[in-house]
Amino acid sequence: SWTTGSVIEEQVAAIREQVGDRRAICGLSGGVDSAVAAALVQKAIGSQLTCVYVDHGLMRKGETEQVEKDFVAATGVQLKVVDAEERFLEALAGVSDPEEKRKIIGREFIRVFEQAQAEIIADQGPAVEFLVQGTLYPDVVESGGGTGTANIKSHHNVGGLPEDLEFQLIEPLRKLFKDEVRMVGQELGLPEEIVQRQPFPGPGLGIRIVGEVTKDRLDLLREADAIAREELTAAGLDRDIWQCPVVLLADVRSVGVQGDGRTYGHPIVLRPVSSEDAMTADWSRLPYEVLARISTRITNEVKDVNRVVLDVTSKPPGTIEWE
Ligand code: XMP
Repeated sequence: SWTTGSVIEEQVAAIREQVGDRRAICGLSGGVDSAVAAALVQKAIGSQLTCVYVDHGLMRKGETEQVEKDFVAATGVQLKVVDAEERFLEALAGVSDPEEKRKIIGREFIRVFEQAQAEIIADQGPAVEFLVQGTLYPDVVESGGGTGTANIKSHHNVGGLPEDLEFQLIEPLRKLFKDEVRMVGQELGLPEEIVQRQPFPGPGLGIRIVGEVTKDRLDLLREADAIAREELTAAGLDRDIWQCPVVLLADVRSVGVQGDGRTYGHPIVLRPVSSEDAMTADWSRLPYEVLARISTRITNEVKDVNRVVLDVTSKPPGTIEWE
């Protein structure tokens, strides 16, 4: 029968056998999945693992610092940080199509890893052959790899990999659902703030901007997202909702009035959802006072935003993310 202890034991043995005396690198995204995958692989092969954190510029406010400080403090893992913001923004310039964005982000991610790999090899010798990924069971199913269902979105860690990939993959969470991953993380001794973190997609804020992704738009969305997260946390709602994507409709403008002037700004969409495993979801019935506070703060504090709207669609028919 399924226990977190047996999953860990089984995976540790399998990873040791797969890797032998070679080396692995693991991308940390700041999320639960990659953190638990990394901690599991570190348990199996210790210092043969080097973690790489790619700052693709699509992260939320404070996220890079959280990985650099909290995760390293919790695990003692070897970490290499790569600042690749400029490269990602250049690759995404002029691109509005959601699938194209996902493919570009996935491709650039792997390219940056290959660079990091080359640097790690220069440092540690030629045995860096494995790439650890925090792929979960729902990712496998939704990318058509599990039950033969249609490809709904190419998740960047499953469907979007380039064909000239040079690594063998280690995917220790491939059979698990999110709640099981959290239990494994807890059993591995990861701190509560990491284990209970709400999910955040690998392509980051890049798939929460409908339209072209630019530095200005990212900065705008980062501010709005930080306000929404702050107010949800202050209201004690983090455990009640699965996640709350905040989406910028960058190509949409509407007329507003602020002070004694007319504005012509962008709308921000709040997408709070409740879910067990992200395969299906319902929109969260957030208290009106909390919605009001978020709306007031975002329209007051975020430049060029003059409207906040609430997404009241379940999944299906809507997916959780907008792209
Ligand atoms: P959707 O939008 O498909 O999202 O209903 C389901 C869950 O998956 C997250 N998500 C991703 N996670 N890479 C990830 O690691 C991705 O490309 C990706 N796309 C969506 C999403 O945040 C939600 O929790």
